[in-house]
Amino acid sequence: MGKLRVGVLISGRGSNLQALIDACADTGFPAEIVLVASNRADAAGLDRARRAGIPTRVLDHKAFPSREAFDEAMTLLLRDSAVDLVCLAGFMRLLSPGFVAAWDRRLINIHPSLLPSFKGLDTHRRALEAGVAIHGCSVHFVTADLDGGPILVQAAVPVLADDDAGSLAARVLEAEHRIYPLALRWLGEGRVTLVDNRVRIAGGTAAPYPLINPVV
Ligand code: GRF
Repeated sequence: MGKLRVGVLISGRGSNLQALIDACADTGFPAEIVLVASNRADAAGLDRARRAGIPTRVLDHKAFPSREAFDEAMTLLLRDSAVDLVCLAGFMRLLSPGFVAAWDRRLINIHPSLLPSFKGLDTHRRALEAGVAIHGCSVHFVTADLDGGPILVQAAVPVLADDDAGSLAARVLEAEHRIYPLALRWLGEGRVTLVDNRVRIAGGTAAPYPLINPVV
């Protein structure tokens, strides 16, 4: 079977894109990135793609009359590259219901919180304000429900007593770079099924538990 053909959508730094690029560099990895598209020409992640020899495209959302028109153009771009799966990696645009429906079960995102806690933006600051002791990140299918689609994998990290949003974000980001390639691998291997909104990973077992924080 051929590799899963992946399109990655970014708006900025692209460190998660880099984690996916690095994973795909392994010849045994079951997915390949065939297109990186950004709504911003100055997204640093575009350089990461170029360095890896991956085709890039910029679609400036300001050049489109509506969200729907932008999203349709994006779908055409992805179809032109025969993309099987779309990975959002710091793509800072809300997607129209039409786009989400067109890519149903073929559209995933990484979010910097343990969903369903802290949907939306500013997750690290809000986690600190809420006083949680454990925070983390999630890879999930994208549905019409913002940050609410079925969860593929999550990683938990401790919140430390002297954390600020920056230090917490850095700890979560390391975990993001671990779990996004994992989710992509499982999808590429055809191990993912959805049963009543819950994801099952064939061959998956539970992580050691519980994670307790703090430890005294
Ligand atoms: C990450 O924190 C990701 O979880 C969120 O946006 C950020 C993107 O960072 N969706 P990068 O562009 O991948 O470095």
